[in-house]
Amino acid sequence: KDYIQSSNLFKEFIYLDEVDSTNTYVKQNQQHLESSTVVYAERQTQGRGRLSRRWVDLEKGIKMSILLKLLLLDLEKIVPLTLFTGLVINRVLRKYGVNSFIKWSNDIYLNGKKVCGILCELSGEVEGFGSIIIGIGINVNAKSIPDEIKDIATSLKAETSQDFDRTRLIIDILKEFEKEFPNFETYGFSHFRDEYKNFCINLGKEILVNGQKMLCMDIGENGELVCEKDGKIVEISSGEVTIRF
Ligand code: BTN
Repeated sequence: KDYIQSSNLFKEFIYLDEVDSTNTYVKQNQQHLESSTVVYAERQTQGRGRLSRRWVDLEKGIKMSILLKLLLLDLEKIVPLTLFTGLVINRVLRKYGVNSFIKWSNDIYLNGKKVCGILCELSGEVEGFGSIIIGIGINVNAKSIPDEIKDIATSLKAETSQDFDRTRLIIDILKEFEKEFPNFETYGFSHFRDEYKNFCINLGKEILVNGQKMLCMDIGENGELVCEKDGKIVEISSGEVTIRF
């Protein structure tokens, strides 16, 4: 509460014990919500992931959505914004001593498994006006991971045997987001590109993009994945990427 009161960006923090999905909640209630509201839920019954997947609800995690109402909705900004959010979270985790990495576009990995996912959704009735909903799911203090996802997902606690103060973590993420957002607005993703590349696990790897084998060469100025396929350069701005180790 103290943080939200002192924040210049985040105006309101809504705590829910249980909700279907914080992203859905924000989408449905956005007319009544101020821009830069954060909605947090202790439990999600229908958490959603990218590509119409489910986001499995782990206990003692962080599930929250940030609503940004924008006057001029710039579609090209969405991908960079999700990358920016992932970078901010990775930076905060690293400050906590967690050896995390970013998997393009915005998954956070720890010891080869996913600990955080981000789902950015656009929601605008009139073209040009609308809002962006940034949904963040972090597996924090769950001791055990359900069988169905335990080969691909983990939690900070499962990997480090440490308990994390979730309130502190949320505040640190929002603070870092607030501190860097002006730079993102002014300079775009390119301002953060070096740091992103530094922690991106896809670079130099052979990857599968929507089922096609490619070599990941670079991250572009706007956060696109630059790959080589049969001697040709291909730029990918969204989709399913699998790393082949
Ligand atoms: C992904 O990696 O596929 C994205 C997962 C995003 C999960 C978060 S949890 C809070 C917010 N509400 C949702 O329903 N999804 C996002």
